[in-house]
Amino acid sequence: MDNNPLWYRDAVFYEVPVKSFFDSTNDGTGDFNGLRMKLPYLHDLGVDAIWLLPFYKSPLKDDGYDIADYYSIQPEYGTLDDFKGFISEAHALNIRVVADLVLNHVSDQNQWFQDAKKSRDSPKRDWFVWSDSDAKYSGVRIIFIDSEISNWTWEPNTKQYYWHRFYSHQPDLNYDNPEVREEMKNVIRYWLRLGLDGFRCDAVPYLFEREGTSCENLPETHEYFKEIRKMMDEEFPGTILLAEANQWPSDAKQYFGKGDEFHMAFNFPLMPRIFISLARENSFPLINIISQTLPIPDNCDWAIFLRNHDELTLEMVTDEERDIMYNEYAKLPKMRLNLGIRRRLAPLVDNDRATMELLNALMFSLPGTPIIYYGDEIGMGDNVYLGDRNGVRTPMQWSYDRNAGFSTADNEQLYSPVVTNPNYHYESVNVESELRSGSSLLNWMKKMLRVRKNYSELLGRGGIRFIDQKNRRVLTYVREYKDQRMLCIFNLSRRPTYVELNLPEFRGLKPLEAITKSPFPRIGDLPYFFTLPPRGFFWLNLTVPDHEDEKDFDD
Ligand code: GLC
Repeated sequence: MDNNPLWYRDAVFYEVPVKSFFDSTNDGTGDFNGLRMKLPYLHDLGVDAIWLLPFYKSPLKDDGYDIADYYSIQPEYGTLDDFKGFISEAHALNIRVVADLVLNHVSDQNQWFQDAKKSRDSPKRDWFVWSDSDAKYSGVRIIFIDSEISNWTWEPNTKQYYWHRFYSHQPDLNYDNPEVREEMKNVIRYWLRLGLDGFRCDAVPYLFEREGTSCENLPETHEYFKEIRKMMDEEFPGTILLAEANQWPSDAKQYFGKGDEFHMAFNFPLMPRIFISLARENSFPLINIISQTLPIPDNCDWAIFLRNHDELTLEMVTDEERDIMYNEYAKLPKMRLNLGIRRRLAPLVDNDRATMELLNALMFSLPGTPIIYYGDEIGMGDNVYLGDRNGVRTPMQWSYDRNAGFSTADNEQLYSPVVTNPNYHYESVNVESELRSGSSLLNWMKKMLRVRKNYSELLGRGGIRFIDQKNRRVLTYVREYKDQRMLCIFNLSRRPTYVELNLPEFRGLKPLEAITKSPFPRIGDLPYFFTLPPRGFFWLNLTVPDHEDEKDFDD
């Protein structure tokens, strides 16, 4: 593997649940050997790092985010040797692997909780947060509002309430207890020794509780992550921490500390505003939020995503913004969950190819590390009739064979039905068919990832500057890194439009369209004029040495 210390800034990540990718044992559930067999696909796609969803032993009531044993693997997913085999083969292809780490809570099946609820004197009692009254920490918001009515649940045996920020079967750990803090460091060491390159830390804002606060983003939580970071830097250099902190920009940014806390954090503030900007055909929400989320320390980066395994969360937007989102993207009540929308990328945008391309081109060119959600590279559909968030977690569609080529088990045995809605049926939306079709979304994504790799420093590490112009439907910015520059122009609207740019600082340069290498006319004194098709975009390289002597067109 390369030893680029800033690898996470230059990379493109791919999010994948082990159970959903490929079933090598034909039991209906994906596994580590299956994932290993599909590594060449991910390598060919052009991803640099994989984010694995939780694979630890679990009753799977929250798809593995309810961990029963932090030191073992869910049996259907394979053995520890399978895991190691997968990691070493990924590394051989120069693909890094980070895994989910659930720190905030455990499954109620976890032995720690089983012991804790035996008696109030149990040595594990203080590993959890107990109270005689469910009025403690009142006012703290409930996250899973569709299924929970309180953050406290009564434990009848010991006659106290226990605290949980998510499902009631997920008791929160008590981070005021030094044993808990130490145990989680041991979990981290255990998996890093086995070869992981870092962790996506689940639900980080909620580790500590203090009366009179929102019990989110407390200073104690930041301190603890700084300790973990220090330990990782010393004992496992090159490994990273990625924060899931779904917060307002000022709070989300805090997770970078002074470059001594998380290496990365999901850009939750940006994600819904990308979709709002599209719905409103207005660049303002995007420009505004990007200005609020920068700058951040140099050794840190945002992780940018369009969709993931959860609902498209709308917790941290205004009521007005949420209404815009629901009206545009979740017309049926079934499409909503908690404060969010449970849909994949393609169905969200009504399967519109130009919009999918625009969104991906934004994700690949805005400051931050892109994370592709498995299946979105082929335009997979979803199934809003499956419960919870299961509709966006259906089997990967490999071919038009039985079970979409995911498994040869009987189809009733699959962990989830495959998508058969005619618009997204696996018979046409699948890897094999798309690889054969030059114009497929998959081939377009592969091309874009190759282009991005050519500009990985510029797009991975460069600054952003918005170009002022009159047309709000068009978003225009320049990415800059050392002497490299890229001008990016996006038509956010459904109509063709035009934009005039004053580019005096680039006067005399001849832009080169970055994807097809098509030459554009020299920038002069007059405003530079662009016409754009609906949802069209340009990436123009302004770094190229003058190509005046090259012929502009073949004829
Ligand atoms: C995170 C995960 C989500 C899970 C929750 C509780 O938000 O992304 O899938 O349900 O934490 O663990």
